[in-house]
Amino acid sequence: MHSIADIPRDEVVVAPSLLAADFNRLGEECAAAAAAGAKVLHLDVMDGHFVPNISFGVPVIKSLRKQSDLFFDAHLMISHPKQYAKVFSDAGSDLITFHLESDDDPDEVIDELKRLGVAAGISLKPGTSAEKIFPYLDRVDLVLVMTVEPGFGGQHFMHEMMPKLAAIRREIKRRALPVILEVDGGVAPATAEEVAAHGGNWLVAGTAVFRAPEGMKNAVEKLKSAYRVFDRETI
Ligand code: DX5
Ligand code: ZN
Repeated sequence: MHSIADIPRDEVVVAPSLLAADFNRLGEECAAAAAAGAKVLHLDVMDGHFVPNISFGVPVIKSLRKQSDLFFDAHLMISHPKQYAKVFSDAGSDLITFHLESDDDPDEVIDELKRLGVAAGISLKPGTSAEKIFPYLDRVDLVLVMTVEPGFGGQHFMHEMMPKLAAIRREIKRRALPVILEVDGGVAPATAEEVAAHGGNWLVAGTAVFRAPEGMKNAVEKLKSAYRVFDRETI
């Protein structure tokens, strides 16, 4: 297990999303992400209920944990996250992010994640406003802003989410909180600078990393280079 303290909170970090990997070779794909320079692996868990798609769950994460030393960033797009937090923590997740729009009380889910000793993240769908997350900012390690409707990889990046992203970064700065701001959906070298400029510093990228025509290493490096414009638009 890793501590979130080992991962920088104020740098641009690339988190390849395993959803875009070749599921016939998941172990090799994880190793390739690490060899390409990624430190964090984003794991998209979908239950066919909270989102209209089913991906993978506990057994896959548990199996990958045996061979991978990456920081496991589990994104739970599921109903009842409180009930499932323990099994995803036991499977080897280092960070568990749940959705504000799920049916559970966010404070209770955060309490459960803290009790389990796993880092806590909270995510907002595109239709949820920035202010809805503000009451939880001092209790979480990370906020995940969706730039697509959750459920599928390979969708178009929603540029119109940038004011919301900047508003959350401004609030984090105003209250001097050590919260990571992660962005997920359609992030690619062409959109990474826009994300970083508006204060996003963990970049989830599925298609852009695992299916990069120029190779994963180049893709990870290009995404990381967005650091030079990090936080430019939020003042
Ligand atoms: C969408 C998932 C994303 C997605 C990202 O519901 O949360 O993590 O897999 O994939 P790309 O980078 O292909 O948009
Ligand atoms: Zn995700």
